[in-house]
Amino acid sequence: LDKSRKKIQGMFDEIAGKYDFLNHLFTLKMDLKWRREIVKEIQKSNSRKDFIIDLATGTGDLSFELLQLSPKKLFAADISFNMLALQKKKTSNPVLVLLQCDSLHLPFEDNSIDIITIGFGIRNFEFMEKCLDEINRVLKKNGQLIIIEMFSNDDFKTKLFNFYFGKVMPLVGNMISGSKYAYSYLHKSVANFYPVEDFITITEKHNFSNFRVKNNFLGVVNTVYFQKL
Ligand SMILES: C[S@@+](CC[C@H](N)C(=O)[O-])C[C@H]1O[C@@H](n2cnc3c(N)ncnc32)[C@H](O)[C@@H]1O
Repeated sequence: LDKSRKKIQGMFDEIAGKYDFLNHLFTLKMDLKWRREIVKEIQKSNSRKDFIIDLATGTGDLSFELLQLSPKKLFAADISFNMLALQKKKTSNPVLVLLQCDSLHLPFEDNSIDIITIGFGIRNFEFMEKCLDEINRVLKKNGQLIIIEMFSNDDFKTKLFNFYFGKVMPLVGNMISGSKYAYSYLHKSVANFYPVEDFITITEKHNFSNFRVKNNFLGVVNTVYFQKL
């Protein structure tokens, strides 16, 4: 699967205009609830919330929720200019700083950030493990890394879901977005991604600990909470 920067950036630039609509359609708006729960969990924790990065922020569904935490600065970072441009149209809140950058090179000092969130982004990172090191570098000690993602899963129920996900969604998604590729890529990228247990093992090797998993949907959509060691 081609996850080169050029391919991924081009793909999200291409579908940006239809991204929100299709996202909410395919998840029947459950995705809004999953993101809101992340904010509630952070509110319950006593960790600092002054400086937050929402990585792979896209059009801002997660970053706007994170504003409720009243951070001093919330950096919304993404490689796709078109996704960021749509986010910019939705708000002029001075706390929110939009950044076009690759997760491989974050323009922040070591140990400077309290929380990093990644919503449905890490599966697309070409050099995922190097990105985990980069995230670790900029997070403060005990800082939180929170990832909501679609993981591969071989359960029976998931196989039924895969019919919808592997056949219906690519057809409808590619048609509505006008892309020949994006929604076929989505299915393939999930099928080729790690099961959540394996993902946790890898992340722990990059100096994150205290994981906690919330199964949002069929063991496919999970939110995983980590802390920097
Ligand atoms: C599926 S969208 C998710 C957007 C948003 N976080 C959400 O929850 O709806 C994935 C986003 O990841 C971004 N992305 C992919 N690879 C990236 C990378 N290496 N660095 C930064 N952003 C990346 C894409 O441009 C896209 O906007």
